[in-house]
Amino acid sequence: MGEATGGRVVKIAVIAGDGIGREVIPVALSELPPDAEVIGLDVGAERYLSTGELLTEQDTAVIRDCDALLFGAIGDPRVPDGVLERGVLIELRRVLDVYVNLRPFPELGLVFVRENSEGLYAGVGDRSADSATEVSVNTRTAIERCTRYAFELAQQRDGRLTWVHKTNVLVNAGGLWRDVVTLVAAEHPEVEVSYEHADACAYHLALDHGRYDVILTENLFGDVLSDLAAALAGGLGLAASANLHPDPATRPSRCIGLFEPVHGSAPDIAGKGLADPTAAIRAARMLTDAVLQETEVGRATGRSKRGTVTTV
Ligand code: IPM
Ligand code: MN
Repeated sequence: MGEATGGRVVKIAVIAGDGIGREVIPVALSELPPDAEVIGLDVGAERYLSTGELLTEQDTAVIRDCDALLFGAIGDPRVPDGVLERGVLIELRRVLDVYVNLRPFPELGLVFVRENSEGLYAGVGDRSADSATEVSVNTRTAIERCTRYAFELAQQRDGRLTWVHKTNVLVNAGGLWRDVVTLVAAEHPEVEVSYEHADACAYHLALDHGRYDVILTENLFGDVLSDLAAALAGGLGLAASANLHPDPATRPSRCIGLFEPVHGSAPDIAGKGLADPTAAIRAARMLTDAVLQETEVGRATGRSKRGTVTTV
């Protein structure tokens, strides 16, 4: 038991969730760390519809006490938009403070570092009958920790980083992002930095993805652009992601991160045996790499080190 991790038993929480999540996650379980204790959690639309529960305190306590969480997908046509997505996935990202959403596209030779804790996903907004607001929240702390991760990753890869925003319109958030990226870039002179507006990035991605290595961007642009990258890389059935809190020193719990396919619950094909499990398998492999790498590095150096997960 626990051979690969120096005696400590690895604990992995698993949420298959909704739709095709329930089909692809069982296939991916064999990729989890050998000898891991796997703890399945019944979270998702079925339980919500029968009990009204989204994520219980017990669920989060179990997950916080695991080394990582393998997650399938969330979302169901019987539940209004946002209830499950916000109440489960966004909430988990918040509870675990997994501030980096790493989305590697090995077929394209590039990786997204998506800021995963704020922007338009912060949940600030208001709705009345005829007006609605969604507030984009941007703090120096959140931008900086994600930016630092991206620069360190670029350093280990090709040394090229493109940061993406829409600074020509979103002048407040864009200005803060520019300040932070400029500051961190000055500490990494060996990384070649460029900037692109999000619309231009979509255009260039479609025509010439070879221009990118690490793409650093805020939450919503990262969500949208990574689906485009998935289309270019062979489809959403292949793309995996790691929601990480890479720095053990500030990690709020034992849990390194939430590993999931980029695709959603795909209710249109759920139950038909059509779902491609590759993305879930890759997510489980990223999880295993992250957990084993961190425990091995921790054992070799006497302390844990920032985990960098690039294998898929
Ligand atoms: C993703 C998904 C989620 C997101 C949804 C399901 C909340 O689209 O992981 O890309 O928007 O982040
Ligand atoms: Mn998405």
